[in-house]
Amino acid sequence: MRVIVLMGGDSTEREISLATGENVAKALIENGHETIKIDLIADRDEQNRLNDSTNLITGFEDPELNLGKIAGGTRFLKNILLFNRLKPDVVFNALHGGKGENGIVQGLLDIIEVPYTGSGRVASMLAMEKDKSKIFFKKANLPVARSYVLASMDSSRDIIKRLPYPQVVKPNDQGSTVGLKIVQSEIEMDSAIEDAFNYSSKVMVEEYIAGRELTVAIFKNKALPVIEIKPKHDIYDYECKYSSGMSEYDVPAHIDEWLAVNLQKISWRAHLALGCEGYSRVDFRLNQTNKPFILEVNTLPGMTDTSLVPKAAREAGINFNSLVEGIIEEAIDRFRTEKKRGL
Ligand SMILES: Nc1ncnc2c1ncn2[C@@H]1O[C@H](COP(=O)(O)OP(=O)(O)O)[C@@H](O)[C@H]1O
Ligand SMILES: [Mg+2]
Repeated sequence: MRVIVLMGGDSTEREISLATGENVAKALIENGHETIKIDLIADRDEQNRLNDSTNLITGFEDPELNLGKIAGGTRFLKNILLFNRLKPDVVFNALHGGKGENGIVQGLLDIIEVPYTGSGRVASMLAMEKDKSKIFFKKANLPVARSYVLASMDSSRDIIKRLPYPQVVKPNDQGSTVGLKIVQSEIEMDSAIEDAFNYSSKVMVEEYIAGRELTVAIFKNKALPVIEIKPKHDIYDYECKYSSGMSEYDVPAHIDEWLAVNLQKISWRAHLALGCEGYSRVDFRLNQTNKPFILEVNTLPGMTDTSLVPKAAREAGINFNSLVEGIIEEAIDRFRTEKKRGL
């Protein structure tokens, strides 16, 4: 098959996406697929370099793609439209964060009618916006920490006084713990909120859940083994996520069987509550009395060799190449079913 790996982009998680993309591309090549890497924001020369080719990506300067006046001439749109020319059987979406994960790219791929991996546009948007996800989790009776959302720097702060300290201040729609702070007292609040507003138009203030950090991956309509993350810092921050040796992982988590099963059930229901498809990863905090709280569902979780979803899959006896193959197969099946239904 011909597979495009869509990677890079302009989000704060660009570097991680490039790593995911390289790793996925390697697996696809090993699986025997013709694989083309496309960096969402690169120009033709950069795309060729990415693919170790001088002429693989042609047509970028094609007059038909010269949408300068209509679309502001963005490379982004050109790169997506290039897909019509490259005619992939499926697109592996290896983007993380921003437009690649929030439904925008999914909507464009829907318009050009090409199968793509992971969730569709609506679930992607719901999962990216933490306040919206929570509405759906609560409706499905799934456990979440108490929180309030500030719509602007000037919003009244009275409401957040209802939460005990420490509080967690986070941008409503970022990932990789970017712009997130634990606030111990009111004095630190202003700067934390101001910082979070640099990354999002809404800021969530959430009750801090002291306890453990767990995550559950969903793949092929099933929850994989629970993983416990033991970060060197208090929270699983950017450094602990991406620097080797900054976190330890228990795969599977050393927790009671009933608790593991319960977390897997909650994860599957959270995945369904948002309408996610393909694969995802559900992040949890577990408090000191073993009560779980869903933090979020990641619709495009990291797929580097050391990432959590591949770790969980390996524990379930699924190697990385089979995981990648399973993800593209599901995308193609779903596309065919939706086409049959005329969607
Ligand atoms: N309410 C909370 N209580 C304790 N720790 C939290 C809380 N919210 C976030 N964290 C910490 O910050 C990390 C990132 O938070 P998360 O909500 O998953 O956002 P992101 O999308 O940036 O990953 C979590 O993995 C956890 O370590
Ligand atoms: Mg997270």
